[in-house]
Amino acid sequence: MNPSSNITWHVSDVDKQARQLLNGHKSPVLWFTGLSGSGKSTVSSTLEKALYARGIHTFILDGDNVRHGLNRNLGFLPADRKENIRRIAEVAKLMAHAGVLTICATISPYREDREMVKEILQQEGCYEMYIQCSLEECERRDPKGMYKKARAGEIHHFTGIDAPYEAPLEPDLIVSTEGREVIQSVQDILDFLDRKQLLL
Ligand code: ADX
Repeated sequence: MNPSSNITWHVSDVDKQARQLLNGHKSPVLWFTGLSGSGKSTVSSTLEKALYARGIHTFILDGDNVRHGLNRNLGFLPADRKENIRRIAEVAKLMAHAGVLTICATISPYREDREMVKEILQQEGCYEMYIQCSLEECERRDPKGMYKKARAGEIHHFTGIDAPYEAPLEPDLIVSTEGREVIQSVQDILDFLDRKQLLL
């Protein structure tokens, strides 16, 4: 039997709409996908600062950070990555209900897993943003020295080296970070949010 079959969903009068009204803005989920070193974390924190300045309540769920706590029991084989992504999507759903614009920054390399994310978040408004940067440039940046270790065979199943990255076929937005300032990439996202009226 499913261990969670005898449970009831509790409805609160203070619902997502009420919280959004109180906050004065919507609470979409922005799902960043891209290679390690593509700029997901950097773009998310600069974007968060820009949104904060506009009075938007935000939260970042960063793969690296979430793996320190909630997902500390997960590794990098496909089944673990799927569970990592599923938990992050479920937390993002809670955040969206709390009225907070949530930025999820994870490699999320498999299309199938990102489709699962869209299903989990279909009521919330989830926007897939491909943080695009070539493997060559990510490897040149190598901010955490991980590519070097992966090339040396010290880390296995590293995305882009000996594990795949399946680029989105139809993302909501492609955000290139190669040969550009961080603020230009962030501006692409702010323009997208305004164009789609996602903050009103
Ligand atoms: S995901 O594939 O499950 O979405 P996630 O974004 O949470 O990955 O974590 C990626 C981070 O974990 C990378 O930025 C890197 O610092 C670290 N990491 C450690 N081992 C690996 C690996 N084998 N593949 C990719 N990233 C790894």
